[in-house]
Amino acid sequence: MPIQTVGVLGCGLMGSGIAQVAAAAGCRTIVREMDQRRLDDGLARIRRFLDDGVAKGKVTAGARDATLGRITGTTGVEAFAACDLVIEAVSEDLAAKTAVYQAVEPALAARAILASNTSSIGITELAMRTRRPDRFGGLHFFNPVPLMKLVEITRGLTTSEATFGALLDFARAVGKEPVIAPDQPGFIVNRLLIPYLLNAVRCLEQGLATREDIDTAMALGCGHPMGPLALIDLIGVDTTYAIANIMFDAFRDPAFAAPPLLKRMVLAGRLGRKSGEGFYRY
Ligand code: CAA
Repeated sequence: MPIQTVGVLGCGLMGSGIAQVAAAAGCRTIVREMDQRRLDDGLARIRRFLDDGVAKGKVTAGARDATLGRITGTTGVEAFAACDLVIEAVSEDLAAKTAVYQAVEPALAARAILASNTSSIGITELAMRTRRPDRFGGLHFFNPVPLMKLVEITRGLTTSEATFGALLDFARAVGKEPVIAPDQPGFIVNRLLIPYLLNAVRCLEQGLATREDIDTAMALGCGHPMGPLALIDLIGVDTTYAIANIMFDAFRDPAFAAPPLLKRMVLAGRLGRKSGEGFYRY
């Protein structure tokens, strides 16, 4: 049965993007945040992105209105009873993810599939914290979700074939290109990306070059759409730090050891674009 109603847990950078693409693809979409202020911020982010798309001529006003009309925000769990698929996109923290599964699972229909947008925590590990390890899988989107084509799909040891197939079909239905990623922290992209980003911070710390020259070098020298420090600001300094720590714990490889500067920036609240300042000011 195709997925018609989608739930999204978390309306931050990733959750709001996921809710937007699900609704744009025609799914009834319910998105949950912990409190009304965060929910309002997340819904406003979706509206801004769509308005921006209309201004750029990429989205019609009708498509924007239809997408917004399919999204319902909530701070509760009752509305999730109607969902065929629920995608969790809360912060990269095992305890936070477990708490949200415990809150929402009693409301879910038996058929519902639960997926995590985790970028670094193992899927089997998360699946075993739910009551539906066979109907659980990894569905990892990239930021900014409406623009990035990739989704990493991960099958844990307990994920059923039917669940895996449904996740692949869903990724294609929302216009993304799926790749099958292993159930290892960081999957494919972050296994390669995180050491690169951390190295850029080490280069800055060691005075190799200015932040602007590091970013310009990689953008123009390697044809990347943006340099590594600007990319950390886009991902979130805190998110990058959390992913690095989880991957370092998993692999014990110094390539994933977060440089001290990253920790200091998190402590100081310099979280990147979302806080108005990271490596750059916004
Ligand atoms: N609605 C619709 N389309 C839009 C839009 C909107 N609101 N805003 C922009 N676009 C379109 C533009 O019209 C443009 O389309 P064309 O190519 O057809 O002209 C395209 O999107 C690019 O937009 P811009 O030209 O305005 O902006 P840009 O060229 O500076 O690109 C970017 C912005 C897509 C973010 C680009 O800089 C980029 O790809 N950066 C790298 C992002 C990245 O690596 N993300 C992954 C991070 S890792 C992660 O997320 C996972 C993890 O676990 C950490």
